[in-house]
Amino acid sequence: MKSRTIVVNTLVSLVGASPLQPRQLLDFDLLDSAPKPAVHTISIGEQPHTVVYDLPAATQAAVADPLPVEAVTKRGLKARTDDSCTSLAAGAGPVPNPDTADTFLAYDAFSTAANSAPVPSGYYQTFGNLQASNNAYGYSGYSTLESYDTQECARRCNNVDSCSGFNIYFERDPSIVPGASCPDPLSTTVIKCVYWGGYISTDNANNFGQWREQFHVVIAGSNGYMKNELYTIPGFTGESLGDASINAPLNCLGQDTYMGAKIFTTSFFDVGLCAAACTSQNEYNIAHPPSTGSPKLCNFFVTYLSEVNGSPEGQYCAMYTQYWNSSYATNDGQWRGEDHYTNNYVFSYTSTSYVDTTVCPGSNSTIIKRSLLRSAASVE
Ligand SMILES: *[C@@H]1O[C@H](CO)[C@@H](O)[C@H](O)[C@H]1NC(C)=O
Repeated sequence: MKSRTIVVNTLVSLVGASPLQPRQLLDFDLLDSAPKPAVHTISIGEQPHTVVYDLPAATQAAVADPLPVEAVTKRGLKARTDDSCTSLAAGAGPVPNPDTADTFLAYDAFSTAANSAPVPSGYYQTFGNLQASNNAYGYSGYSTLESYDTQECARRCNNVDSCSGFNIYFERDPSIVPGASCPDPLSTTVIKCVYWGGYISTDNANNFGQWREQFHVVIAGSNGYMKNELYTIPGFTGESLGDASINAPLNCLGQDTYMGAKIFTTSFFDVGLCAAACTSQNEYNIAHPPSTGSPKLCNFFVTYLSEVNGSPEGQYCAMYTQYWNSSYATNDGQWRGEDHYTNNYVFSYTSTSYVDTTVCPGSNSTIIKRSLLRSAASVE
């Protein structure tokens, strides 16, 4: 039995007497109605490449109201030709002797390389020395390496726009395409550097290999790293919140500052998508004012990767009328039945033009003006 975290009780104790705002918890209707992100597993026949995303289209989808429900594009399947027993690209890693999957998985040199690899500058490690690769959000392609070189893989990730993290590992691949007349060929060890535009963790390192005829593809020395970066967006000041999203109480006037949420499922993690949604929401709200009073405006948003049991649900984007600091970042996930929803790679952004003009009852100043032009906090 999994242990359950009673999120609501934790929140009550943290926000004290302030009323709970359950609307801010994950909107399961929103999650259920959005298309599922395409989860990509690299096949052994796939050549090294970089995935190019249509960012204008993703941004268009992010600002559309309501969010269009689109089918996830399927990759075109190439016409099947019989390439059995033709050679495949040789990898640069050592091949253990005897040449079996069991020997490969027990081979010390792979764990030693993984355990002693330096954490590249600008990154933090999320897992180490697993025997599986990731199925995450925002697959952005891969390349092969000449050695197990985390610095080189990081350098390549830095050159891929959509790359937020990478998975590096040794893979036991066939040296020729397995077929009826060559069902279990000699192996070659390919060192892969896989780019992800999503969050990679032990929970989504669930690709343990595959069988090709009688050849067993397996993985060893798998490490994961995420960028330790506070992404800059013009017009906003950001904060990194780790693995917990904001759960704001009503403000001191009893007003609900939460506006609603969107989820993006068709591209890669990009704080700019949520910024575009926030900005366009304001244009819409100003153009369609309520019959009395002024429209609620988005001055603050929280965006992160939502996962269920480690599998990607997409990029969540929650909007608020006012800034809430990191002491309100208390929502680290929710349970629905046996399913554990987690929030990872959480960032909040405040509009640089936002000035808090809330006058709290009992405050001795007539107007509390708090400029939120804070210097960009760096990620620890
Ligand atoms: C966060 O905001 C609360 C309420 O405004 C304040 O009491 C607290 O000092 C702030 N904490 C930080 C870390 O800024």
